[in-house]
Amino acid sequence: MPGFIKSPAEIERMRVACRLAAEVLEMIAPFVQPGVSTGELDRICHEYIVGVQQAIPSPLNYHGFPKSICTSVNQVVCHGIPSDKRILKHGDIVNVDITVLKDGYHGDTSAMFLVGKVEAHAERLVRITQECLYRAIEVVRPGARLGDIGHVIQQHAEGNYYSVVREYCGHGIGSQFHEEPQVLHYGRPGTGMELQQGMTFTIEPMINAGKRHTKLSQRDGWTVETKDGRLSAQWEHTLLVTAGGCEVLTARRGEPWRAG
Ligand code: MF3
Ligand code: CO
Ligand code: CO
Repeated sequence: MPGFIKSPAEIERMRVACRLAAEVLEMIAPFVQPGVSTGELDRICHEYIVGVQQAIPSPLNYHGFPKSICTSVNQVVCHGIPSDKRILKHGDIVNVDITVLKDGYHGDTSAMFLVGKVEAHAERLVRITQECLYRAIEVVRPGARLGDIGHVIQQHAEGNYYSVVREYCGHGIGSQFHEEPQVLHYGRPGTGMELQQGMTFTIEPMINAGKRHTKLSQRDGWTVETKDGRLSAQWEHTLLVTAGGCEVLTARRGEPWRAG
């Protein structure tokens, strides 16, 4: 079988790792409140992943990343490092990105949280970004192409006068955190690799309220921010391509792909 296709045994392990990652997001949700630090959110998730799930937080020490989760607040696009000094306040929007390694396989998912009362324009960015992910998921089936995914995301974002971050993308996932192929969040329909049953990859659009350009923090080497300082939002799921479409392996309670 070609390299991108997972065996049934691998798929079963992916299901477990992805369910655990989704459960961490469900667990942490009530803690994301004004007054909590992102460092505290990291500690709670770390304890849960290691102690309760008996899994490993994939980000910890990944290419030197110092924490167990990523927390990206407001103008931070991705890879924000949790810190006891970063205390969430009313009006913030924050992405919490969870990746767990269980039994040799990774599950990767992230969600946005609104901290206290958030301005309407920020809430709208968060909602449209989630719609970008959901529309992309609807496209996934055998025979569709990676460019089809990028296209629907770009259309919906730019149709709402937002921009799509280009420097970071979704990715294949399995026994490695980041595998081939790269899943771009922009593109043209009918281009790029054709999807096949048994592939597992993430879709994780980063959508900016202003211009698409980003800058990498020179101070910590990780934090990615919008160049213009305006807000950015991101949502992420890990997917399995099935005969009829796809399975959203990291679906949470209340999402369309998972009842309850
Ligand atoms: N979870 C991120 C992703 O969706 C990657 C984080 S890498 C880290 O691909 F090193 F910053 F943790
Ligand atoms: Co990812
Ligand atoms: Co992630």
